[in-house]
Amino acid sequence: MTIKTVLLKIQDPASLAQLEKLVSATDGYTLTTENMAPHDLLIFEVTDKDTEGQFNFIRETMSSGKANHLFLVSGATDPNILIQALKIGPREFFQLPLNLDDVQKALIKLQTVGSTGNITVSSTPSKEGMIMHIIGTKGGVGTTTIAVNLARALCNPKTGKTVALMDMNLLFGDIPIFLNMESPQFDWAEIARNITRLDSNFLMGTLYKHPSGLYVLPSPTSIIESFASGPDIITKLLKLMRTMFDYVVIDGGQDLGELCKAIMKLADRVVVVTLLNLPCLVNIKRLRDTFLRLGYPSDDRVFIIANRVGKRSGNISVENAEQTTKKKIAWTVPNDFQNTMDAINMGKTLQEIAPGSDINRRISEIAAFFERQQVPEEGMKRRGLFGIFS
Ligand SMILES: Nc1ncnc2c1ncn2[C@@H]1O[C@H](COP(=O)(O)OP(=O)(O)OP(=O)(O)O)[C@@H](O)[C@H]1O
Ligand SMILES: [Mg+2]
Repeated sequence: MTIKTVLLKIQDPASLAQLEKLVSATDGYTLTTENMAPHDLLIFEVTDKDTEGQFNFIRETMSSGKANHLFLVSGATDPNILIQALKIGPREFFQLPLNLDDVQKALIKLQTVGSTGNITVSSTPSKEGMIMHIIGTKGGVGTTTIAVNLARALCNPKTGKTVALMDMNLLFGDIPIFLNMESPQFDWAEIARNITRLDSNFLMGTLYKHPSGLYVLPSPTSIIESFASGPDIITKLLKLMRTMFDYVVIDGGQDLGELCKAIMKLADRVVVVTLLNLPCLVNIKRLRDTFLRLGYPSDDRVFIIANRVGKRSGNISVENAEQTTKKKIAWTVPNDFQNTMDAINMGKTLQEIAPGSDINRRISEIAAFFERQQVPEEGMKRRGLFGIFS
């Protein structure tokens, strides 16, 4: 085992004493006080004073190669500081007061893995949230409209449920526009890229909180570089989010790649948004065939929403659609261009601008259905591939 040198830059005296003791007692590590000498690991406490100076120091230390690895610790609660800290790319991040067990595990792990370890989810699971994956049969069918407004409807002060909304539309995610999020500072790719340990406190600090109480995690707005471990990271992120929220609603857009597959595997419910026209219905059939072939999600977890259904819209009828796809249409959502468009243009949800509209009422009914399903149904889990609608 090679001995790694550790430089501690910790302001809080109690945490400093704890870390000195821990590092000295952990095999394979030795403390150094030599600021200038290269060291293997820098453990740095980010405080809320002169954060710019602190981040400059860290950046310089890391980019000059003076330190190989970085652990950050912080008692700061300001999301801006946490976000900046995350952007710096620490290998680990620990909240103060320290959980010494976690720090020791990280030190041991650093001895055994190279420089590109996987994310470790560290959290005390407290919830068993429902992951709802909303996907569209084509672009423009209303996937984001349904995802945003369904998430909003689930986030109901009467039930007190906590809801996270996550945008998986790479590059073209529009949830920040739908919710008038002024400057979303954080996206899930950033989390994925920069940190090896996800902690629920930390993650919570980075999510955008909408006035309605919804927590939002936008998608990256620029093309992300090599993202080989993407599905892995998304899986771990979602597993953590599930312990933090009652519902995690994902706007999956039309992506059917590896990330989508990773979400499908975990999703408790998959909602397919479609229009009642032939190309979309053909895609439902294709999706179903794919799900059956892959073995997930099981058919009884898949719900079809026919969007923009109106009397004069020239749609295929619900009955014919069900015959064509061999799958029940779980709900129809009325055509309401005015309210959906106003909502987008104002950056508000339908609940805010048209609470009594038919479309909002229908989306609330859908939310109520999923609320009733929230208790884990073992029977449903066991029913397997061929569900009630086959
Ligand atoms: N029920 C509805 N009635 C009328 N118009 C609707 C309805 N749902 C959505 N729309 C309109 O359809 C357009 C596309 O909606 P939205 O952005 O939600 O679709 P999308 O499937 O997410 O699109 P994209 O593929 O661009 O992500 C918007 O102009 C929206 O106002
Ligand atoms: Mg969309």
